[in-house]
Amino acid sequence: MKASVASVATALTVGASTVLGAATNMNMKRDSDITPITVKGNAFFKGDDRFYIRGVDYQPGGSSDLADPIADAEGCKRDIKNFKDLGLNTIRVYSVDNSEDHDECMNALAEAGIYLVLDVNTPKYSLNRAEPKQSYNDVYLQYIFATVEKFAKYDNTLAFFSGNEVINDGPSSKAAPYVKAVTRDMRTFLRARKLREVPVGYSAADVDTNRLEMAEYMNCGTEDERSDFFAFNDYSWCDPSSFTTSGWDQKVKNFTSYGLPLFLSEYGCNTNTRKFEEVEALYSEKMTGVYSGGLVYEYTEAGNKYGLVKISGDNVKTLDDYDALKKAFDKTDNPSGDGKYNSTGGASGCPVKNAPNWDVDTDALPAMPSPAKKYLTEGAGKGEGFSGKGSQNAGTASSGTASPGSGSVASATAGGSASSSTSSEGAAANLKPMQMTFAPVAVGAVTVLSTLFGAGFLFL
Ligand SMILES: *[C@@H]1O[C@H](CO)[C@@H](O)[C@H](O)[C@H]1NC(C)=O
Ligand SMILES: *[C@@H]1O[C@H](CO)[C@@H](O)[C@H](O)[C@H]1NC(C)=O
Repeated sequence: MKASVASVATALTVGASTVLGAATNMNMKRDSDITPITVKGNAFFKGDDRFYIRGVDYQPGGSSDLADPIADAEGCKRDIKNFKDLGLNTIRVYSVDNSEDHDECMNALAEAGIYLVLDVNTPKYSLNRAEPKQSYNDVYLQYIFATVEKFAKYDNTLAFFSGNEVINDGPSSKAAPYVKAVTRDMRTFLRARKLREVPVGYSAADVDTNRLEMAEYMNCGTEDERSDFFAFNDYSWCDPSSFTTSGWDQKVKNFTSYGLPLFLSEYGCNTNTRKFEEVEALYSEKMTGVYSGGLVYEYTEAGNKYGLVKISGDNVKTLDDYDALKKAFDKTDNPSGDGKYNSTGGASGCPVKNAPNWDVDTDALPAMPSPAKKYLTEGAGKGEGFSGKGSQNAGTASSGTASPGSGSVASATAGGSASSSTSSEGAAANLKPMQMTFAPVAVGAVTVLSTLFGAGFLFL
């Protein structure tokens, strides 16, 4: 739906990073204590309880109008009333101006028990699917690292999207290694800077021809290269419909052994009158073993009839779709217990090239552009915000292929050893055997590899 970008990978949030987050905020008035969301197996958790995303996509102004709705404290507080009335626990924001202050809105959201899923990209600072090699550069990484640094400190930042709909058909899957490299780099940055390990992943377009491949791809390879979750947009349930008519039964079946949390980053077909009957399916045990909820597209009406409310000036008028969604949420509880999630989780195999639908030659990734490495040790510095010059034709691109494990903090900060100039074939050949040791329960192997690459993280 949106032409810009976003994605994410996860990391387990551990005590230490939570403490760090709290310390950062010590001098600020803390309006609430909200529990950070973590990943276990293929699900999100809030403490010991399963967490399902009940959210909306929030972009007042519409997708064509670049605005940062959470830098607007008044607008944010105005809309929180409706978020609470709808029973939401999450909003997604497509772009933020990283030179602005977001404390007031983020604290107000936290106080209301609402989390943020954030796209770190902006139209000017994002991968260009037509020129992925050039647009994956240090200027771009500085911008998104500055955004990550700002938002990791909020306990109610649920997740980062490293990219949004970068791949929107078969041929554009050529850009997938760059999307995956950006995801890797964001996770490396969080760890290297000892920030809270906010889950990082990608939001895929509603494309049938390579959805599963993209999901597997983002979850294959060494631990440092894999996402923390996967999300996709889905407009296939158009009321009146059903679990089987919509094909959602197949989307459960096809993803059943997928090892990461999955959610719908946009849903809400509006071909016919919306009753949001999909809500009942999404939060039922028919789906919760595999899916963790989703985000309705979208809060604000912007001319395309997807909106729940119409905003004019300070006036917010709720529309019929708002009432329909509220009714659907009100009558739909989450499953009791753990919703039958898969506690094992684990890596996928990398998909095999199958052009034009899946046009990725090698499992190897581009190395982090060298000038960006300093941000891992020095921090990202100031964000240029919406008024910055943009990054797509700026800076220095990647100079080679990464070795598997290059995203571990030790490798990434070890002055150049993270990238190698080996041919793609060489790197890919290295990857295969290692990947196999990443069977879901191969904790021993994971430990050994982490040690090998100098990373002190244990995951599971
Ligand atoms: C499920 O997987 C099958 C086999 O790969 C594929 O043909 C079908 O399109 C997939 N369905 C959905 C809804 O993803
Ligand atoms: C749980 O996830 C693992 C790893 O992805 C998979 O191998 C296994 O089949 C899954 N179990 C079920 C019941 O889906």
